[in-house]
Amino acid sequence: MSKLSHILSPLKIKSMELPNRVVMPPMGTNLGNADGTVSAENIAYLKRRAKGQPGLIITEITGVHPDGIVSPNQLAAYDDRFIPGLRQMAEVAHEAGCMIALQIHHSGRESLYMLGKGKAVAPSAIPSIVFRATPREMTIAEIKEVVAAFGSAARRAREAGFDAVEIHCAHGYLLTQFLSALSNQRTDEYGGTTLKERSRFVLEVIEEIRRQVGPDYPISIRISAEEFIKGGYSVDDMQTILPDMVKAGADIIHASFGTHGSPGGITQAPAEYVPGFNAWLARKVKDVVDVPVIAVGRFTDPSCADEVIARGDADLVAFGRQFLSDPDFLIKAKAGRPEDIRLCIACNQGCIEREMLGEGNIRCSINPETGQESIYPEGPAAKSKNIWVVGAGPAGLTAAAEASRLGHKVTLFEKNNILGGQIRYAQVPPHKEIYGEWIDWQIGQVRKSKVEIKNDTEVTESLLREGKPDYVILATGGQKVIPPVAGIDQPFVCDAWQILDGRVAPKENVVIIGGALIGMETADFLSEKGVKVTVVEMLKRSPVLKITSHGYMLHKRLREKNCDMLFGAEVKAIGDGSVDVDLAGEKKTIAPVDQVIIAAGMKPTDKLKGVLSNLEIPFTIVGDAHKCRRILEATEEGARAAWALG
Ligand SMILES: Cc1cc2nc3c(=O)[nH]c(=O)nc-3n(C[C@H](O)[C@H](O)[C@H](O)COP(=O)(O)OP(=O)(O)OC[C@H]3O[C@@H](n4cnc5c(N)ncnc54)[C@H](O)[C@@H]3O)c2cc1C
Ligand SMILES: Cc1cc2nc3c(=O)[nH]c(=O)nc-3n(C[C@H](O)[C@H](O)[C@H](O)COP(=O)(O)O)c2cc1C
Repeated sequence: MSKLSHILSPLKIKSMELPNRVVMPPMGTNLGNADGTVSAENIAYLKRRAKGQPGLIITEITGVHPDGIVSPNQLAAYDDRFIPGLRQMAEVAHEAGCMIALQIHHSGRESLYMLGKGKAVAPSAIPSIVFRATPREMTIAEIKEVVAAFGSAARRAREAGFDAVEIHCAHGYLLTQFLSALSNQRTDEYGGTTLKERSRFVLEVIEEIRRQVGPDYPISIRISAEEFIKGGYSVDDMQTILPDMVKAGADIIHASFGTHGSPGGITQAPAEYVPGFNAWLARKVKDVVDVPVIAVGRFTDPSCADEVIARGDADLVAFGRQFLSDPDFLIKAKAGRPEDIRLCIACNQGCIEREMLGEGNIRCSINPETGQESIYPEGPAAKSKNIWVVGAGPAGLTAAAEASRLGHKVTLFEKNNILGGQIRYAQVPPHKEIYGEWIDWQIGQVRKSKVEIKNDTEVTESLLREGKPDYVILATGGQKVIPPVAGIDQPFVCDAWQILDGRVAPKENVVIIGGALIGMETADFLSEKGVKVTVVEMLKRSPVLKITSHGYMLHKRLREKNCDMLFGAEVKAIGDGSVDVDLAGEKKTIAPVDQVIIAAGMKPTDKLKGVLSNLEIPFTIVGDAHKCRRILEATEEGARAAWALG
């Protein structure tokens, strides 16, 4: 039997016949039109995922009520006028041979948008944990209205050609708010001290949907099997109501976990969690129901998912972010090419956190096509050009791969022996190995292409004069900033890069100048080795946000390892065995100190800019060479530069 025989086996659930057990779970894209209708971008994004042949696609959150949305461009199903757009989604999935379910949703109090309008409703007037603003308690009439709205939305899903409907009863949205004692303190029939008592609203929603869609139409319910929050319900509590959900009409239980308020963004687990880490929750669900159960949580490798099904922990497996980093992963696995799969690195920067922080619509740090499907050129380019890409970090590697894919003759130059740029440092701190694996994958793909790689070759003015490329993509990255501090040139002062690549051995009592990502990760790396670390950061608050999943884990580890973090502090002088800082206007001396490490930021390395202008060679500057930021910007700009070559 093939190693994928379980995940690739078909499954019939009422009227829906799934060709395999791979599920693309719901993922909000922010691509919808401003009025909640389906956009061309939604369709292009979905079409690309459907091409990857999952058995079942579940759409992103789709609003059942105008007062229960998270943003005006969230997809909607609260009126018949949304049916034509939704129908296009169903058609795109069916054309590719996939089944598709519409996820129907009401945000309740977890909507900054509705809270801002003063229209957010919830079981009780208790502030949102995430947004810290208070909703209005729903009246019985409003509860009945929302129950009916779920039913009507499901009916529209059916009319639009969806094969199933999924109720969003997870992650802290309205239905979870009714289930959780943290948000439901009602004393009427919709509240109560046990989860069973508080489940009435959810059961009524399922029953109403069943009434409106008929007996043979599959209904999935996505639950947070455990809330993973202090005072929240446990999976043992959840087990008490699952059979009631099935009795009310649920045909599939989708066992997600956590809420937006759970510490560390566990719902979109960061790289600290191993693939499939939460399959045990699906098992707990399966123990008490006899309908198919979907497992989810950091799955990237189909053979790992296959084992979960083989063990009987779940009947289907959802791959969320893996569908963003590489929608073709299943096809590659089936073709016996698992090494070609671009594995998700769980950084969350391009997807969930970008949306959460209002930075824009869906992207993927390592897959520049994601969220840009409608402008992604299939190629080949009209005219093949002689392209030089300078620098083999994320930006240069992506630019080279894309330009070559489009048919250009590409030469990639790297002044170092080793390719990968800053990722060779980024991969060193705890739980960051995955970054190294990704860049190795990216290098491997470039090596398989027609790109000519010239490492150990620094591009200089004379090389450019000689080579006369048609176009240059300048991806030369950044260089460290040395702050003008008295005593900075002493022998016990080094930089984070020297520590991370082992050129300088760490000492016992260390001060790190700079508490942004590189400083904090260097602190993490050293604290793990038992070094006593003090981080000094000028900004009053950490630039590494605790509301991001990686930021949360990083701050937590540094706290646990007693690393001193001084914010709003500026290093004034480095003495012999001590460091003077200005902490909110007061002088503080840190001692003993036997090593000072600089991590005070980076500035672009763009010295070839002037040379290229003088030589009249057209060029684009991308990634950190343009402005020092992150992988997401580096890969996106690298790709866009290649796409723009014409
Ligand atoms: C410790 C650490 C942790 C990090 N963690 C993260 C993270 O978690 N998430 C994130 O998004 N980002 C992270 N970053 C930042 C990220 O690594 C950079 O934003 C990214 O690498 C920028 O890519 P780039 O290709 O623009 O530049 P670089 O990666 O700097 O690559 C530029 C390349 O150009 C080469 N080069 C320069 N001049 C020439 C020349 N004249 N000729 C030939 N070659 C040349 C350089 O040698 C280098 O290899 C981290 C960085 C560090 C140091
Ligand atoms: C960008 C993004 C948007 C998401 N939007 C939704 C959503 O609309 N509805 C939902 O139930 N879950 C949503 N999720 C959660 C995913 O469905 C999934 O449970 C989560 O990403 C964990 O799976 P993974 O580790 O395979 O990515 C979202 C996740 C991401 C990354």
